[in-house]
Amino acid sequence: MTSTSLHHDRHDPAVAPPVIGGIDHVEWWVGNARSFAALLMSSFGFEAVGYAGPETGRRDRVSHVLQQGRIRFVVTGALGPDSPISEHVRAHGDGVKDICFLVDDAEAAYAAAIARGAVTERPPAIDSDQLGAIHQAAIRTYGETVHTFLDRSAYTGQFAPGFGPAVLPTPRGEAVGLTRFDHIVGNVELGHLGEWVDYYREVLGFDQLVHFGDDQISTEYSALMSTVVWNHDKVVLPINEPAEGRRKSQIEEYLDYYHAPGVQHLALHTPDIVHAVRTMRDRGVRFLEVPPEYYVDARERMAGIDLPWAALAELGVMVDRDQDGYLLQIFTETVCDRPTVFFEIIQREGAKGFGAGNFKALFEAIERAQAARGNL
Ligand code: FE2
Repeated sequence: MTSTSLHHDRHDPAVAPPVIGGIDHVEWWVGNARSFAALLMSSFGFEAVGYAGPETGRRDRVSHVLQQGRIRFVVTGALGPDSPISEHVRAHGDGVKDICFLVDDAEAAYAAAIARGAVTERPPAIDSDQLGAIHQAAIRTYGETVHTFLDRSAYTGQFAPGFGPAVLPTPRGEAVGLTRFDHIVGNVELGHLGEWVDYYREVLGFDQLVHFGDDQISTEYSALMSTVVWNHDKVVLPINEPAEGRRKSQIEEYLDYYHAPGVQHLALHTPDIVHAVRTMRDRGVRFLEVPPEYYVDARERMAGIDLPWAALAELGVMVDRDQDGYLLQIFTETVCDRPTVFFEIIQREGAKGFGAGNFKALFEAIERAQAARGNL
């Protein structure tokens, strides 16, 4: 199992942290970019908006840029066996390589992150064509995952130099209506949660939004701990570590199959989860099943809130509330061959939480899937 080693001795807190405007895109490194992109398009309703490959002058890889609302994915595959993408796929299967941050000044963001103790992935570079220039640099985070700092303010093209128009046709189907990244969750090894929370605090100036102990996230079989760090704005990154349980926790199963820490799930926001989930089900997405008994207790917990209960129960959408409002959420099955990465679909109506009231029901659903794989 690989793990980025962290050296906090170079941490200089006198340097202001990088200013991050949001998530520009998430890049996947996969075994077959055309197929994975096609899945995200046909099942999740993404549209191809760009392409890079041999036809655009890139010899070693192909990338499809997909968009839905403000969610942008880059799906990248290798064109040969010696590529770092092939190595990554061999070790981890399909997965998220880069959570790319939009910044105003990539050189300054990178310099600040390095001064504050970041481990470098790529020093600053400028990619340019006739439509302008993209400035970017990257640091490492958990496992082989990276954060690129990307400044596109001097670029007028669709995505980036080296990319041309999309080559994958948009499949027919009703629009799903996913609008933005809500949060992106990483899994790290037992005993390493604290150091990664410190890394985000020290390097990026993030703060802890909330911590869930293993007493809050446990079932009869397994437990986990989770700390959510954020930039006080749009970037919300929960981090999980496994806790001691009676059997193998879902986080351990992830780590066993991904062979490293990495991104576990991406939560995508929609203003209408009933429509989004119904449409995705019609398009072939499979979600974790919620037992009918769940809704007896859920109706009590949500007393006073008018909700389309028949539709929620039919679709398996879960509900939770906090002092600020409520949220509706649902989780897909894993979307790669290995039981690693999955999506959450979430509709927030004021609530700022993560569905703590659903943790038990959710993890029991995950464990049913784990048991079916012989991993519980
Ligand atoms: Fe989540």
